[in-house]
Amino acid sequence: MNDFKHPLFDEILFFKNLRSTSLKAERLINSNTAQGNFLCLAGEQSSGKGRGKNSWISPTGGLWLTAALYGFNFQSNITIFTGICIHKTISELFPSISDKLKIKWPNDIYLNNKKVCGILSSNLSNKKYHIIGIGINTNLAELDEISVPNATSLQIELDRTVDNEEILTRIFDNFASALPGFVEGELDEKYFNNHSLLKGLHIELDTDYDIFRGKAKGIDKSGALLIELKSGMIQPFYAGSIIGWEK
Ligand code: BTN
Repeated sequence: MNDFKHPLFDEILFFKNLRSTSLKAERLINSNTAQGNFLCLAGEQSSGKGRGKNSWISPTGGLWLTAALYGFNFQSNITIFTGICIHKTISELFPSISDKLKIKWPNDIYLNNKKVCGILSSNLSNKKYHIIGIGINTNLAELDEISVPNATSLQIELDRTVDNEEILTRIFDNFASALPGFVEGELDEKYFNNHSLLKGLHIELDTDYDIFRGKAKGIDKSGALLIELKSGMIQPFYAGSIIGWEK
């Protein structure tokens, strides 16, 4: 991985051990050390950041990276776009598990009903950067159910190891080829809805403002989650955390 290259990035930085690729990318940007698009990759992270206050367990074997893109002003639906690119990549490379691979709004990928990938994005608008942190449990032979509940890895599900470099190349090939359309407002919501973990299920969404319960109807063209509330009204939600779901 230490000599990984991709045309989307002007610079690729590989660190054997790092606290967090996202923290590192932010430091490089805030200290004006960074130039152009760059990718920060780690062999392992000692303090990986997950959504909210969650940590992200990142031992050797997984794919832990932050893509820093310069001059883009993405909306929060960039995590949905990225999730679609990752889902397509894994499905193309490993067709035997593609029917068990699902995208969970707004930023996770599930395999066999267990989390296999998380995506975290933030805008450093004063520096004109957008960073996208991606964690994929690839070559992890086992996961501790206590520290990483309800998670799985490609290795566990495929019963073999995978080529991290090939996965990364294909993710950013898919990402780079769909990016111009995304910038113009295109989001492949049909693809998302066809591979959605939640569509048709009863879900609970925490928006910080309130908790909403209802049936997930998929996402709209902008990436908003459509929920049919108890009243029968279908409402779009642009942000929030899914805190529960069932049939
Ligand atoms: C989530 O909670 O689902 C998002 C997890 C994102 C984890 C990745 S691993 C690479 C990058 N560096 C971090 O510290 N976090 C993200």
